[in-house]
Amino acid sequence: MPAITVKPGIYWIGINDRLTDLFEGIWPITQAGVSYNSYLVVDEKKALIDLAKDTQESSFIGQFEDVLDPADLDYIVLNHMEPDHTGAVNLLYRLAPNATLICTEKAKGMLQTFFGISDRIRVVGDGETISLGNKSLRFFAVPFVHWPETMVTYEPTERVLFSCDAFGGYGALRGAIFDDEYTDMDFYIREALRYYVNIVARFSGPVLRAIDKLGSLDIDVVAPSHGLVWRKDPNKIVSLYQQWAQYATSPGDPGVTLIYGSMYGKTEEMMNAVAEGVAKVGIPLEIFDAARTHSSYILPSLWTKNGVIVGAPTYETSLFPPVAQVLEMAAHKRIRKRRAAYFGSYGWSGGAKRDCAKITEPLEWEWVETFEFQGRPTHEDLHKAEEMGERFARLVAQK
Ligand code: FEO
Repeated sequence: MPAITVKPGIYWIGINDRLTDLFEGIWPITQAGVSYNSYLVVDEKKALIDLAKDTQESSFIGQFEDVLDPADLDYIVLNHMEPDHTGAVNLLYRLAPNATLICTEKAKGMLQTFFGISDRIRVVGDGETISLGNKSLRFFAVPFVHWPETMVTYEPTERVLFSCDAFGGYGALRGAIFDDEYTDMDFYIREALRYYVNIVARFSGPVLRAIDKLGSLDIDVVAPSHGLVWRKDPNKIVSLYQQWAQYATSPGDPGVTLIYGSMYGKTEEMMNAVAEGVAKVGIPLEIFDAARTHSSYILPSLWTKNGVIVGAPTYETSLFPPVAQVLEMAAHKRIRKRRAAYFGSYGWSGGAKRDCAKITEPLEWEWVETFEFQGRPTHEDLHKAEEMGERFARLVAQK
């Protein structure tokens, strides 16, 4: 895509990545894609804010040259050192011999360890400003949004916040980069939530502190380094991030995430009965087959809902591994204080129920219902399962 004017003298030169299958080597983005948004601020001095992955270097340089010759660059601002934003730094460093790299003290060390760069670096402190002529850039440390070295950059004359990972989302941009041009906001917000829970959720405390810290700024445009640029309603994405971050310490909204796995259909048969019971109560219910669904897509439901029902057989005296992996990822993301129920079949010895409790022990999940059966569920078992689903749904509906 050609460069796009965000504000007078400020240009988006982002890259759409539809070739990477797994973001961070973990999270599927084959269908959604992702963008790496960089911005050029052109005044008497010229600054580039954030870069792109090294796999997209040639596209990135092409975008850049649409606006100016890299040799004319005075500053390269590195808000965050993760290589989705810095992969192209060695190339830019060579193409822009007059440019100084701007970053935090912690990022300076990472420039050496990740890229072998130790010269032409200017460390900026929290609140420090660099003049570009009429425009200027002000830097605010936002540690752990997403890494400890991270900062954001604010341009006060045009009131643009370059927020890097904060307020970003999955989704390659579909021609339109601005919120007011985007025609499928439901899709974007769903992907932004998935990005939040996959990438940022563990750092929800720092996210809330950053929102509080930046709250006094007069912001016309939120320009993150992934996803949409918010110029019509910049407060919308900030409010969503605030709401999502608060789930880290709240038990979630009334609703049920039903995660199941089934080897020969017995637990799946039971799952349908449980779901029937939940559905009678009319609260939100999402059902995931853990063996066929990446945890990336299950985590947003776990993050936002207060109830979890796990249906899984015992596999070699342990919890069915695909279900165990989802619970382990929930533990890694610190999805705490949920109400939970377990059901599942076993052939000759149990073990699945014990593992559910063990994996989620640090998360303080309250296991309020359990239903194990041997072999296949009987007609009576299916009735009991339906009653269990309904009982559990009524409990979580109370919040
Ligand atoms: Fe988009 Fe933490 O990098």
